[in-house]
Amino acid sequence: MKPRVQVTREVFDEVLDYLAEHFEVSANQSDAPFTPVELAEHLADKHGALTVLTDRVDDALLARCPNLKAVCNIAVGFNNIDLKACSARGVLATNTPGVLDSATADFTWALILATARRLTEAEAWLRAGEWHGWKLKQFLGQDVAGATLGIVGLGRIGQAVARRARGFDMKVLYFNRKRVDADIEREFGATYAPLDTLLAESDIVTLHTPYSPATHHLIGAQQLARMKPTAMLIHAARGGVVDDAALIEALKSGKIAAAGLDVFESEPKLNPAFLRFKNVVLAPHIASSTHRTRFNMAMLAARNLVAALTTGKPPNLLNPPAN
Ligand code: DGY
Repeated sequence: MKPRVQVTREVFDEVLDYLAEHFEVSANQSDAPFTPVELAEHLADKHGALTVLTDRVDDALLARCPNLKAVCNIAVGFNNIDLKACSARGVLATNTPGVLDSATADFTWALILATARRLTEAEAWLRAGEWHGWKLKQFLGQDVAGATLGIVGLGRIGQAVARRARGFDMKVLYFNRKRVDADIEREFGATYAPLDTLLAESDIVTLHTPYSPATHHLIGAQQLARMKPTAMLIHAARGGVVDDAALIEALKSGKIAAAGLDVFESEPKLNPAFLRFKNVVLAPHIASSTHRTRFNMAMLAARNLVAALTTGKPPNLLNPPAN
């Protein structure tokens, strides 16, 4: 008998076809998110799951899924999965690193440029029929070329962002929990700076750290107060890395000039104050959302699931082998 797996949200047909070669597959192509109770019901008799960041995989859930051996997230982030609980219960957990670096870095740049050049504000104004002629001082923005870019988190995505900064002749500072090797610094033209220095010296601060208890509210009132009043904050990492209420206060009081945001605390219910700022570019957590990238993420997660349930050695294992 084939192992049983659950796909918790809509995926591409090719991914389901591939999984069906190996497993008895239950899919959720209607894409309605499962409540925690529904998720537990669907996983109760399954051996594996293809999950997304809205599925909370914790000990309470795992306790109700005695056959579960693998949880494969379609995301590089895995803060929705309790890895300790997975290890304790013999469940392999995986993520999808690498395949989304370019798309996410490209989108970070879309946010940087749109925010610096007030693109969404100008477009809304034009669509509202307000454009009656050219003016020298119309929608004056900020220069990106030649500016100082501060990258918080110089992992794969942060590096891809740094690589793109070269074309804009920028000075690049970075902060990382662990300083990267000198050859990587050279390759990306990035200079290490403590977080406070990076915040004080950058014209554009962009965040690329995973979310964990250690990075919860990494950027809060104190950190925002260190930024230049002309600076902008770009956030396409994970809701919770920034204290959204503190960011709103910093924008209101002019402590920083602007922000470009793809992720939020408690998304999709973002703080309504964000909607009122003209100097904030907003996106609905789509940094990795290109056809190719989302396909590759889902397929990589499926490959992890097949490997986890057939060899016990998925390529992107996150937790130590269970005993
Ligand atoms: C990730 O891969 O963690 C992204 O946030 C999913 O969109």
